[in-house]
Amino acid sequence: MHAFDRTIKIAPSILSADFANLGAECRAIEAQGCDWVHVDVMDGHFVPNITFGPQTCAALRHHITTVMDVHLMITPVDRFISFFADAGADVITIHAEASPHLNSSLQNIKSFGKKAGVALNPSTPPETIEYILDNIDLICVMTVNPGCAGQTFINSQIDKIKRLRQMIESRPINIQVDGGITQKTAQAAVTAGADVLVSGSSIFNGGSIIKQHIYGENIRALRSSLRKN
Ligand code: DX5
Ligand code: ZN
Repeated sequence: MHAFDRTIKIAPSILSADFANLGAECRAIEAQGCDWVHVDVMDGHFVPNITFGPQTCAALRHHITTVMDVHLMITPVDRFISFFADAGADVITIHAEASPHLNSSLQNIKSFGKKAGVALNPSTPPETIEYILDNIDLICVMTVNPGCAGQTFINSQIDKIKRLRQMIESRPINIQVDGGITQKTAQAAVTAGADVLVSGSSIFNGGSIIKQHIYGENIRALRSSLRKN
């Protein structure tokens, strides 16, 4: 039995990738040293943007060898969970604000043998999930308003991360931060207790499939910002 892995993981969000080349983009970020691949699913209803659905996720699965981390920003969400499980997601994260029966939705995710994640919008208090922690594998603290890449990190969420880290005690739960993570903001999130860093623009900006070494430079710069600060 291995101890729970709390090493810092970098999860680039392919929301900032070239949508015409998503398979190659996933291979590129993995080749350049990312730990997980974060897949943002948006429905134009729960959030004001549309990305892609389970068929795209199933196609991407063939290009991802690490962890396929699917962040569902959709409502209703329950009827789609089985589709994303079948598409091969390793982690399925749903929003607390998107499920009227959150505990039941999490049990549904786990019934497919998947890791169950809960995302909390910036205004959602940590106590929302206090009594269902034993059914949660990952908490995604939204450090921007969900919907698009390139927004500014919301500093008030640092306190929420600290509170969640206390609440989960020794439970095997990852705390993920999503939104506005850069070389300037990552350390504060990690110090507060986060162990999975989602980053879109700060990993993909300046690079491309043919300039994928830039992705590697950006990933390494994010990692080394944790040691310097
Ligand atoms: C926001 C998404 C994030 C987003 C992060 O709705 O959930 O994953 O892509 O992008 P950056 O890192 O650019 O804030
Ligand atoms: Zn996300």
